[in-house]
Amino acid sequence: MPTTSPEAPLLFFDSGIGGLSVLRAVQELLPHAPIVYTADYAGLPYGTKSEAEIASRVPALLGRLVERYQPRLVAIACNTACTIALSHVRAALDVPVVGTVPAIKPAAEATRTGVIGLLGTSATIRQSYVDRLQSDHAAGMTLLRYPAPELVHAAEAKLRGEAVNPQVFSDAMRGLVNHPDGDRLDVVALGCTHFPLVQEELASAMPNIRFVDGAAGIARRIVHLTLDQQWPDRPSQGVFVTTGALGDVDALKTTLADFGLTQTGSL
Ligand code: DGL
Repeated sequence: MPTTSPEAPLLFFDSGIGGLSVLRAVQELLPHAPIVYTADYAGLPYGTKSEAEIASRVPALLGRLVERYQPRLVAIACNTACTIALSHVRAALDVPVVGTVPAIKPAAEATRTGVIGLLGTSATIRQSYVDRLQSDHAAGMTLLRYPAPELVHAAEAKLRGEAVNPQVFSDAMRGLVNHPDGDRLDVVALGCTHFPLVQEELASAMPNIRFVDGAAGIARRIVHLTLDQQWPDRPSQGVFVTTGALGDVDALKTTLADFGLTQTGSL
C-alpha cells in the first residue's frame, strides 16, 4: 500500500458553507490536517434539486476535484448529496469516501419521550435512505420530518455577516411541533450540515429541545481511517474552492480564516 504524503489534503464537499460544521469537528481532532473545502455554489441549493440532478452532478464534480487535489480522503459534508448519491460517488472514486447522513441514531438514543424531529432539505427528508435510518435505529418511535430550506439561506447569510430575520428559526421549529405528537418532541436531528451553524438561533426559538448532528461521528470516522498516516508539522490550513464566482467568496473571508482556509480557488 503506497504511503500517504503528509501534505495530502482531506477534501470536504458541500453545496455551500454547511460543511464547515463538519470541518469544525474534524479540526478539533486533527488540528494539522491540510484541507481542500469545496462549495458548489453554482449548484446551491441542492435541497430543491431532483434525485437525478444530484446523482449526476456530485460524482462528476468530485471526480474532477480528486484528480486535481489528490486528497487522502473525501468527506461529503452534505446530507442531501449523501442520501441520494453516496453509493454513486463511492463507485466512481478510488479514495475513501466518508458521508454525512441525518443523525437519527444519536437522536433515537437521546430521546426520553420517543418523539424525535428531523429538520432537513426537502430532498433529504423524502429519501428512502431516511426511511431505512428510521427503521434501523428508531423503530417504534415517532419521527417528525420537516423541510426547512430557508435555514440553508439563513446560515449562508449569517456567515457572510448579514442580518437574518429570526422568524425563519421559529417557523422551522413550529413546523416540527405542529405535527400530531409534536408536543412530546424532545430531540431534533439537524439533517442538513448548514443547520448546526444556526443551532443557537433554533435553540432560542424553542428552548428545552436537544439538538444532535453527525459532525462528531464523522470526525471520529476520519480519525479512524487515517490513523497510521502522517500530517504536516503546522496548524491546519487550506484552500476554499468554489464552483461559482470567486468574488462571491469575499464576504466569507473572515469566517474562512477561522478554519485556516486562507486561499481561494475556482473549479
Ligand atoms: N448542506 C446541505 C445538506 O447537508 C444542503 C443544502 C442545500 O444546498 O440545499 O443537506
